[in-house]
Amino acid sequence: MSGYNTPFEALGEEGIRQLTNAFYDYMDSAPEVASIRAMHGKDLTPMKERLADYLTGWMGGPQRYAEKYGSVCMTSPHKPYAIGTDERDQWLLCMDKALEQIGADDELKHMLKKPMFAIADMIRNRE
Ligand code: HEM
Repeated sequence: MSGYNTPFEALGEEGIRQLTNAFYDYMDSAPEVASIRAMHGKDLTPMKERLADYLTGWMGGPQRYAEKYGSVCMTSPHKPYAIGTDERDQWLLCMDKALEQIGADDELKHMLKKPMFAIADMIRNRE
């Protein structure tokens, strides 16, 4: 028995913030994700916040990203970048490592597995 129905209930805003910090810190340091790191600006701090805002709503919490930016469509902000299966899998690797880093339990990891893959694959814009 977990006692939560959504990833947001499990993590809360603080947990999601820790997750996106760990996500971009991993991206910033791991050679195997260097090609997606290179797509981002030098300072990842604004991205930590934007991804946390996005995931807060996506995980079942308040719609922070929509409140600030007016949209939750993730296709257009990714259009300028060539995102294929390699880039998608690098992104998902960062997410797996971040979940590990914050001590997410197996149930939460399982709950996120398919929807995380689905959203990352939806953002993919080439083979
Ligand atoms: C599939 C692999 C992905 C790659 C390679 C990728 C890469 C990027 C890049 C390069 C940016 C722009 C960064 C900048 O402005 O410095 C960005 C923005 C963003 N990405 Fe991704 N991304 C991926 C998947 C995702 C997924 C699955 C989500 C959500 C669950 C997401 C959420 C965001 C958000 C919220 C922004 C900020 C958009 C904005 O407000 O401008 N990304 N991404």
